[in-house]
Amino acid sequence: MTSPAVTCASTASLAQAAHLMDQADTGSVVVTEGGKAVGILTERDLLRATAARAATEREAVHLWMTPRPDVLGPDEKVDAAWNSLTSHHYRHLPVVDDAELVGVVSLRDLLSVARIRPVAETSGDVPAGLEGVVVAETTVGDVRGKEGFFHYRQYSAVELAERRSLEDVWHLLFRSTLPDTATSNAFAAEIAARRSLPPGLAALLPALSGQGTPLDVLRSAISVLGAELGWRPTLDAPAEELADQALGCCAVVPTILAAAYRYRIGLEPIAPADDLGFAANFLYMLRGEVPSEAHARAIEQYMILTIDHGFNASTFTARVITSTGADYGAAIVGAIGALSGPLHGGAPSRALDMLDAIGTPDRTEAYLRPLVENGQRIMGFGHRVYKTDDPRSVLLRSVAQSLGGATVDFALRVERTTVEVLAELKPGRELYANVEFYAGVVMDICGIPRAMFTPTFACGRTIGWSTHIMEQASHNRLIRPAARYVGPPPPEPVPSR
Ligand SMILES: CC(C)(COP(=O)(O)OP(=O)(O)OC[C@H]1O[C@@H](n2cnc3c(N)ncnc32)[C@H](O)[C@@H]1OP(=O)(O)O)[C@@H](O)C(=O)NCCC(=O)NCCS
Repeated sequence: MTSPAVTCASTASLAQAAHLMDQADTGSVVVTEGGKAVGILTERDLLRATAARAATEREAVHLWMTPRPDVLGPDEKVDAAWNSLTSHHYRHLPVVDDAELVGVVSLRDLLSVARIRPVAETSGDVPAGLEGVVVAETTVGDVRGKEGFFHYRQYSAVELAERRSLEDVWHLLFRSTLPDTATSNAFAAEIAARRSLPPGLAALLPALSGQGTPLDVLRSAISVLGAELGWRPTLDAPAEELADQALGCCAVVPTILAAAYRYRIGLEPIAPADDLGFAANFLYMLRGEVPSEAHARAIEQYMILTIDHGFNASTFTARVITSTGADYGAAIVGAIGALSGPLHGGAPSRALDMLDAIGTPDRTEAYLRPLVENGQRIMGFGHRVYKTDDPRSVLLRSVAQSLGGATVDFALRVERTTVEVLAELKPGRELYANVEFYAGVVMDICGIPRAMFTPTFACGRTIGWSTHIMEQASHNRLIRPAARYVGPPPPEPVPSR
């Protein structure tokens, strides 16, 4: 445990509590009265307060804390403390001895103990797929499935997508602050100046583009890019060097993908336009014409909404590779590989294929019912984390509605019917439209070909991966879990003399 615990009075302001946490580099403050713990305020509470626009200088801690928190005794075993924290999704618990506060124990404390314990001693089975297992601490963002909420740094991702440019959100992730207008313009210009392909990659791209999908080409192209630019292992590269590689790579990814697509269909690539924003320039390089403001903004909002989303498979992959000290390019290539899988990012066109298969709105129910009755999945519905509306699909639905058109009306009707059919045939499973349903509709309206749906996702997500790579490299520890051997027993080792 950490002792003494960081404490404050229940009348302290949220800002004072945040300052105390910041100074002590801890994620919670125990609220005390007469030496007794009466509540606990955590980073999560501060986040809720920020999201609700609480006046942090004025509002008192007791309005946002968890009152009468569960507590641990000082002699509690580590496993019991672990079970208590994880079964209630707590991250911090006060430690109390004879009603007096003596410290606080956090998941971080317990994880550091777990690191030095042999595998055989750790209790409990880790679920297949690591569902719900906390494997790192991050300040990049988080997903709260039950609430249908996700955030980047301390800002609601949906609000960022509604109000900010992609470059602003990129600045928030790479440099930890939302920029003012002058900084935003300077950052956008810095990115725009780095969109062109370096000569070695430009020369190889036509040959690479003949092989595989645009995402396959991207994977190979990033390897070429890293070799051409001499990216060093993250273990040796100082933070500024890594940040520079990441900025340059994220800036050039749309150029690679648009060129790969155009070569594939027999067209020459189009040079980037410095005066267009990230998303508008991507559409321009893809289609050869400057997009309407509405289309550019719709794709920009889609990219903002999908920049980052917790410890998904590709992000985790990027962090595992970075943890070995390998170079930035290796981590991005690995992440692209993970993203290409149909269970991750490899299937956003399938929801649109389903709309095609349904054909006309009146056929929706007749099409869906037998599918669900036969145990098949309706594409674009259901989510591992969200058991309520996926906030990304809610915003993308309204983006699609603002673009309008027959496909949108059709999609709205299909969504309504699908939710009804799933509620009837799969009661209690809480199945709603996920990000892919309206993403496909929006990308289609904006003229992105289906082969470029996942690559468009990758354009924005590279920024999220890069943020995680930099975070991992900044306080790295090799990620090296263990597996339980369940095969035939090996011979007993012969004792050496
Ligand atoms: C995304 C997905 C893999 C999440 O799955 P999950 O959280 O692991 O959910 P489970 O596989 O445990 O499913 C729980 C129940 O809901 C059902 N279910 C989940 N998604 C469903 C869907 N899209 N259509 C029909 N039934 C679905 C399952 O059949 C299961 O029913 P059961 O309890 O009778 O066995 C799943 O919802 C799915 O396959 N969706 C369709 C593909 C898709 O849109 N992928 C993009 C995700 S962003």
